Amino acid sequence: MLAASRRWRAQGLKVGLVPTMGALHAGHRSLIAAARGENDIVVVSIFVNPIQFGPGEDFARYPRDPAHDEDLLGGAGVDAVYRPSVEVMYSPGSSTRVHVSGVADPLEGAARPGHFDGVATVVSKLFVAVEPDRAYFGQKDAQQAAVVRRLARDLDFSVEIRVCPTVREPDGLALSSRNGYLGSDERRAAVSLSSALRLAADAYAAGERRPERLRRMLCGRIEAESLARVEYAEVVDPETFTPPGTLAVLAVRIGKTRLIDNHDLSKVFPG
Ligand code: PAJ
Repeated sequence: MLAASRRWRAQGLKVGLVPTMGALHAGHRSLIAAARGENDIVVVSIFVNPIQFGPGEDFARYPRDPAHDEDLLGGAGVDAVYRPSVEVMYSPGSSTRVHVSGVADPLEGAARPGHFDGVATVVSKLFVAVEPDRAYFGQKDAQQAAVVRRLARDLDFSVEIRVCPTVREPDGLALSSRNGYLGSDERRAAVSLSSALRLAADAYAAGERRPERLRRMLCGRIEAESLARVEYAEVVDPETFTPPGTLAVLAVRIGKTRLIDNHDLSKVFPG
């Protein structure tokens, strides 16, 4: 991978990297399209990263479908797919972790101990393996994108971090590889995340600024669904992920499935 990337870059070509865990969908495709538009070469990495999953989490059952991924990538204008094995990514005895503090501590960091260490470690290794000029992340995982920005700055990776808008289903549900876990009743309940964000954005536009009111509105809409449980609902600063701010961030359990979503309340909710 590195030899190919260095050859391209020696020819003056710009390389864009889209890191993924596969089970590709239109959200991933939008990152690929953005990379296609801004670079000469597009590399997609597909690696289900074991170290970013906690003990009770879904690493073993995370959807892996290489044939589907190849179909989705066909015609997307991808120059290379980097799909390392776990053994190549983490050679025996590998024990180093990249730890980002501050922005990685609250919310997802608190709910999923070790998760962002796993993300920061694998993203660092992908940057070393590909040496991209630009790397593409989704606003869907807003805190992850902020952690990666911090990481790239702090470790002097000369890569430009680009963050692309969340792609949604027609009813508002943010696309996610985990949506496939949802049964039909759960799928209906899952619309509560985006509905809650829309409701709070409307209230914000009408002048509501009290964080407690906005939070209660988010929780109220979600827990109107008997299948949904709020894990957290906060309105935070989009850089630090602590209050006060305008970014509404949600983690919700629908049955056994954990979904996250977010929206900057100072902006109109799309659709
Ligand atoms: P994965 O969940 O496969 O997501 C890969 C990228 O796609 C992430 O940057 C994510 O934010 C983006 N993405 C997912 N759903 C999206 C949507 N609906 N709209 C726009 N972008 C979306 O995130 C990971 O993998 C991993 O943590 C990874 C960064 C690859 C490190 O292992």
